[in-house]
Amino acid sequence: MNPDPLPAAIARPHRPVRSFVLRQGRMSPAQRRALDALMPTFGIPFAPAMLDFDRAFGRSAPRFLEIGFGMGETTAAIARARPADDFLGIEVHSPGVGSLLRRIALLGLTNVRVIRHDAVEFVAEMIPPASLAGIHVFFPDPWPKKRHHKRRLLQPAFVHELALRLAPDGYLHVATDWEEYAREILAALAAEPLLVNTADGFALRPLFRPLTKFEARGVKLGHGVWDVNFRRRPGAVGESAGSPDPQRIASSTRAA
Ligand SMILES: C[S@@+](CC[C@H](N)C(=O)[O-])C[C@H]1O[C@@H](n2cnc3c(N)ncnc32)[C@H](O)[C@@H]1O
Repeated sequence: MNPDPLPAAIARPHRPVRSFVLRQGRMSPAQRRALDALMPTFGIPFAPAMLDFDRAFGRSAPRFLEIGFGMGETTAAIARARPADDFLGIEVHSPGVGSLLRRIALLGLTNVRVIRHDAVEFVAEMIPPASLAGIHVFFPDPWPKKRHHKRRLLQPAFVHELALRLAPDGYLHVATDWEEYAREILAALAAEPLLVNTADGFALRPLFRPLTKFEARGVKLGHGVWDVNFRRRPGAVGESAGSPDPQRIASSTRAA
């Protein structure tokens, strides 16, 4: 039996193709304790209503979203280094959520909030338009087999939804160790009218990005790393994200 069933909303049957497969993943006692004790303080439950960031963080500050934080070591390191910024981390893997909560407590971080939910639904339902100063997607699952490409998170429709939620000049930063996916991501972001590339093609690794757990494993295996960094066009007037269409977003993980 799964010791930590995810909220029923995550397993809704009407959207069969997602960018993740829920694993039974063993949770350590420390992660379990952190999840039980700290989720009520640092967790944001999924609800189909726009988030009030000032209320969630208890202050006003630039907000950054990290999608798929894994075990949360990068999230915690960045949040620690940037105390004036607020970070929303979203992940579906419960041991990772427990792990980030543990780090939050150990480091005494007050600028991180954690969501255990599908990022596609979370963005659609809870992130207000033009509200984010930046979005981090570090080493999204590459789904290397062709028949699985439809599961890839960063496809044009979802990229558009992310772009709509960036404040003018806000950035979308993606890193991957899978070259073919890197090129697909670069093409998807370049084709999005709301975004402009900060580099000529791939970007340099930004100084603020620590080596992630997944990245370190890839580097050991001799993989390359590709960074992609776009900004929302300052004057871009996009379609309103005031009433995001979850069907359209959901389809972003379906389109092959
Ligand atoms: C390859 S891992 C990378 C983890 C971490 N960023 C790192 O670099 O070590 C990708 C992570 O994204 C998470 N993920 C995939 N799709 C997601 C989604 N739709 N919403 C939230 N998390 C997702 C997975 O559970 C997994 O932990």
